[in-house]
Amino acid sequence: WPEGTERVDGALRFGGVDVREIAEQHGTPFLLVDETVARARARRIREAFEAAFATEDDAQRVDVYYAGKALLTAEVARWMRAEGLRIDVCSGGELAIALRAGIEPEAIGYHGNNKGERDIEAGVAAGIGTFVLDSPIEAERVAAAAARAGRVQRVRLRISVGVHASTHEFLATSHEDQKFGVPVDEVPALVARIRQLPSLELVGLHTHIGSQIFDASGFAESARRMLALHAELGADAPLEELNLGGGFGIAYTAADRPEPIEQIAASLADAVRSAADELGVPVPRIAIEPGRWIVGPAGVTVYTVGTVKPVRLDAGTRTYVSVDGGMGDNPRPALYGAQYSARIASRVSDAEPMLARVAGHHCESGDIVVDAEWLPADVAPGDLLAVAATGAYCHQLASNYNATPRPPVLAVRDGAVRELVRRESIDDLLARDTGFADTGFAAQ
Ligand code: LLP
Repeated sequence: WPEGTERVDGALRFGGVDVREIAEQHGTPFLLVDETVARARARRIREAFEAAFATEDDAQRVDVYYAGKALLTAEVARWMRAEGLRIDVCSGGELAIALRAGIEPEAIGYHGNNKGERDIEAGVAAGIGTFVLDSPIEAERVAAAAARAGRVQRVRLRISVGVHASTHEFLATSHEDQKFGVPVDEVPALVARIRQLPSLELVGLHTHIGSQIFDASGFAESARRMLALHAELGADAPLEELNLGGGFGIAYTAADRPEPIEQIAASLADAVRSAADELGVPVPRIAIEPGRWIVGPAGVTVYTVGTVKPVRLDAGTRTYVSVDGGMGDNPRPALYGAQYSARIASRVSDAEPMLARVAGHHCESGDIVVDAEWLPADVAPGDLLAVAATGAYCHQLASNYNATPRPPVLAVRDGAVRELVRRESIDDLLARDTGFADTGFAAQ
């Protein structure tokens, strides 16, 4: 639950606002992001890494890029920038959001394993800070776009460093058999090629081993391997920086116990320093790209309970509590078996707790919001149900499955709620269906 969540008169308050008031004004479901919490976490992770990598000369040694794929709206981009972070985008759409939000192009890094030709051109034309190259073909493509624009584009090269991160298979990104990055043994030849291309300037190497990682030893191992490569390739021409990616895990349920970020930063810094010592190279400027860690815990999704249905099983009874959202606004349980915690938000109850399964309203039995949660046995239609830690990868993964309009993104600060992204309407959905053109509907 976002820090500062409290219960007053039985109802949860987020950022000082009663959840029932927000539901009344905006309807449900909605994603509510506590701006104060998101910004405090952005600051905290930046300061943690700055402190861990600090040296006596006080020079800035760390760049923190906010991974916009976790949650990106114009305001969120501006909050992150205001807290001293840069913005990492991974598509033409995210690039457009960041640029139109007024983020200075130099503060933007652009990722992706198959960036669109036009998106590359847009990034080059805007003068973004770096492209993270993912393959030899892409190196040529970005070089050509930069040459056409008469620019020298700063680039980083993404390495598949061969570390097996202990996380869900779909969230691990640096073992051998996956699509991202360039395998270590192919890196020297590609770096040589990039250095031949006059329209590219190689500023450093990059890796990202996966997401929702708790075990800091994976980060340390990848840092050691990356530093060895950094030293080897920097022998000819120095590389400015080393980007170690994001992936820092958060708590979704009470069973998740992530180490404090300060500790993770310190152990990463130790790994980098001792590898640099062994290799006899200076510690490079370090970049990281956290997304989930910053915004995940700052968000809650609030639904209204619609039906409560006990289903008799051999082993007992399971109560399905169905809400007015589901895999359309949060497909993570269906995609990754993700676990969440939920509470009745609109009242307190002294009824016995029962083990319930919170389901969505979509036409699919895998449409689960929370697989198993203790809810009061008197949970009833009309109750508001809040699900914690939905700030990252929910709004961005949301779909219109079953022609369901996507919920709004609301922000709360100092007791006031405002809309960052408005609720989608049925008209929004129908507007793209050209079959309504004859009826005049699409023009409305
Ligand atoms: N950098 C790169 C290159 C990435 O690919 C990602 C995430 C990040 C940084 C940020 O990772 P974070 O700090 O947020 O873990 N949809 C999945 C997560 C996919 C992550 C993709 N890349 C989920 O809902 O769990």
